[in-house]
Amino acid sequence: MMSRIEVAKVLADPKIGEQVTVMGWVRAFRSNRFIALNDGSGMDNLQVVVDFEKTDEATRNRIKYHACVKATGVLVESQGAGQSVELQADEIEILGDINLDTYPIQPKKMSMEFLRENAHLRMRTNTFSAVFRIRHAVAFAIHKYFNDNGYYYMHTPIITGSDAEGAGEMFRVTAFDPASPPRTETGEVDYKEDFFGKATNLTVSGQLQAEIGAMALGKVYTFGPTFRAENSNTSRHLAEFWMIEPEVAFCDIHGDMDLAEDFVQYLIRYVLEHNRADLEFLDKRIQDEEKNLPTDKRRPMGLIEMLRFVVDNEFERITYTQAIHLLRDSKDFKKGRFEFEPVMGKDLQAEHERYLVEKKFKKPVIVRDYPKGIKAFYMRMNDDNETVAAMDVLFPYIGEVIGGSQREERLDKLVERMEQMDVSTEELSWYLDLRKFGGAPHAGFGLGFERIILFITGMGNIRDVIPFPRTPGNAEF
Ligand code: 4AD
Ligand code: MG
Repeated sequence: MMSRIEVAKVLADPKIGEQVTVMGWVRAFRSNRFIALNDGSGMDNLQVVVDFEKTDEATRNRIKYHACVKATGVLVESQGAGQSVELQADEIEILGDINLDTYPIQPKKMSMEFLRENAHLRMRTNTFSAVFRIRHAVAFAIHKYFNDNGYYYMHTPIITGSDAEGAGEMFRVTAFDPASPPRTETGEVDYKEDFFGKATNLTVSGQLQAEIGAMALGKVYTFGPTFRAENSNTSRHLAEFWMIEPEVAFCDIHGDMDLAEDFVQYLIRYVLEHNRADLEFLDKRIQDEEKNLPTDKRRPMGLIEMLRFVVDNEFERITYTQAIHLLRDSKDFKKGRFEFEPVMGKDLQAEHERYLVEKKFKKPVIVRDYPKGIKAFYMRMNDDNETVAAMDVLFPYIGEVIGGSQREERLDKLVERMEQMDVSTEELSWYLDLRKFGGAPHAGFGLGFERIILFITGMGNIRDVIPFPRTPGNAEF
């Protein structure tokens, strides 16, 4: 076992005069003497001072950007600005050499596209280290929030026969040889012969199974990978993303919105408290990036300021019908600034969502009671018979971060909707059983994990907040 102390521990509580060993990667090497060493335990580096008497020239020449180094020495108060403690190295050992002529990552500004192609190395940069530390913190906070509030973590299947969202954007799972699958007499692929004895796909949502949990355990949540074969090549869509889906018995659409608001505010507050250095780094990164842009192209707020803003303000709550009226009455619409016309009965576009959040209300907005025609079969029909008890939480920059609803608990109404929308009542007979046998009013939502990480880190593209993004044409690593 190699014994070492983590840099974050040294910096949190520096024991001046103590001898320690640290191991990490060189983030910078100044004046052939000062190593900024980072081992991933936090944003801040430990300064390691190389002693010319004790470290020979051959070793010193191997200390390079992103080389892996072990240093043993005594912690002393630092003379230099920027840190309170530094390590006077008695011994330096190179654990991993680096050849900077062939190393793709360079200590200068690199494009996000280039770094994405080198996703196996990008985690070592300050930006991506900060992003992935925050990603971890949010995942942890999600479990903490639900555990502290009496929810049970439920694992829903990844391989399933159902299409929860009814959007048909599924990846097929099969053990067939694609060149010669068994066929039925009429020439169709015979999935009865396949591994599971039926056609299966990767799940698009754990909701339907989470409802099973809620009808027994009361309050449950899922947190797992979901897959969508939608061909949207945008900065907010992934083909493989993680979703958090709470499902709550004895809850209506209003309780659902209360939960969504409290939950996302908690997550952001958690990061503000626990990832200060990471956020400050990312905040400064955005400011540097936007310095050369004209003022109207810059973000109206700094990153931390914006997070505070979400945490400190109540979300605006409006209905879909109100939203369409506001959009049609807006200057942006009248001056032709929208690419898509806001039309009653049609889905809101990202530009409409962002108008409501960024211009109209200047805070997160929850839109509810959408037309039944644009939403999934399981949403509860409102008394008007035209809209359903659905709600979307909209954030600045990213638009929809949460989508949820009260579920249709009335058997007859649910069957009617399934028939109208061509959803098989036979395939989903177990789902109908939940209504037949001791059903209860219930509601839930899905939070796109990468969407909230995108918002919290201020990154520009969702591909940069998941370690290995899967998008149309990309499944590297
Ligand atoms: O709105 P969606 O499709 O809702 C559901 O799947 C419901 N079953 C949730 C529920 O009620 N339990 O997806 C939920 C969220 C969206 O608001 C968005 O944040 C995210 O998942 N999302 C995506 N994130 C990244 N890439 C994609 N392709 C996404 N599609 C949805
Ligand atoms: Mg949605």
